[in-house]
Amino acid sequence: MSQVTLGILTSGGDCAGLNAVIRAATDAAAQRGWRVLGIRRGHLGLLATPPDVIALTADAVRTDLLRAGGTILGSNTKDDPNKTGRAEAVSAALLQLGVTHLMVIGGDGSMRIFDRVLSAANIPWVGVPKTIDNDVPGTEFAVGFFTAVGVVSEALDRLASTAASHSRIMLLEAMGRDSGFLALYGGVAGGADVILLPEFSYDLDAVAAHIKAITHDRPGPVLVVVAEGVARFDNDRRQRGSIGPDIAAELEKRTGFDARSTVLGHVQRGGSPVAFDRLIASTFGVRAVELLADGMSGRMVAWRAGTISDVPLTEVVGGPRFVTADSPLIRTARQLGIYIGDGARPR
Ligand code: F6P
Repeated sequence: MSQVTLGILTSGGDCAGLNAVIRAATDAAAQRGWRVLGIRRGHLGLLATPPDVIALTADAVRTDLLRAGGTILGSNTKDDPNKTGRAEAVSAALLQLGVTHLMVIGGDGSMRIFDRVLSAANIPWVGVPKTIDNDVPGTEFAVGFFTAVGVVSEALDRLASTAASHSRIMLLEAMGRDSGFLALYGGVAGGADVILLPEFSYDLDAVAAHIKAITHDRPGPVLVVVAEGVARFDNDRRQRGSIGPDIAAELEKRTGFDARSTVLGHVQRGGSPVAFDRLIASTFGVRAVELLADGMSGRMVAWRAGTISDVPLTEVVGGPRFVTADSPLIRTARQLGIYIGDGARPR
């Protein structure tokens, strides 16, 4: 067989565990005698003159890549080449570089972009899901999610002690875009009393009543987690910018208790991956190379029912996915006495 050249790129918002995928894929490819090219800044590296690529070798990825946060390849979240008329230029650059197979490490948006870009090109490719939002369809977990859950949970641990010292409501705003997975998992792991999600409607009077019930109507420590994508309490629309401080102020008014808010922001995306992210990143990277070696294309590696799997990209590109009322963790949260909201919001 002629020389196989695997191109690897990271696309979309970064998260912990991207480098661990790059490391695993490079090792698995190198064992097969493949050449590996790292494409920098997502598709932008392919549109640069000359193309912005680096050679990846098993030696180069041996050191601290498993542990390192971010992505050594860089990423970007802008300028969908399908919309800027550069889709053909992207596939032409891949062919010019001699890339015979491609691995896209990204969220559902990146999968959609490359599905269109590569539809006319004869380059087999596979996707590896990553995002702290955990909103990629077809997989239960994406790389980076559990590290971010740990950040939310640890932040709640820290807020719990100061909430207790001052008998305050402490509100924490988590990322997640329009999906509530990060707020839900982080909130349950960190012992929240209230978790507000974009997928569920909520009533601030009911939240205030819940807070007063659990504190026996006296100021006491309360932990509230709010997903950044929740609708506003007064017009049911998502607002630009942080909603957390507004909800905290409103809860202060409606309970008469002191409330403070913390917006976690990009802290959730940075830093070293936790063990589970390292494991799925390694497993995903190796499986993606196996799929390509087996002649597969148009698939995404996935984590389902506690093990590695893969799904057709047609299952992925219609994303994002959302928390549903029958999610096991919603049931858990309700039975832990956590206020979750009243019912699914129409989408
Ligand atoms: O999709 C990941 C994510 O961190 C979201 O949770 C968040 O809304 C968004 O990206 C932030 O994007 P940016 O880094 O462009 O501000």
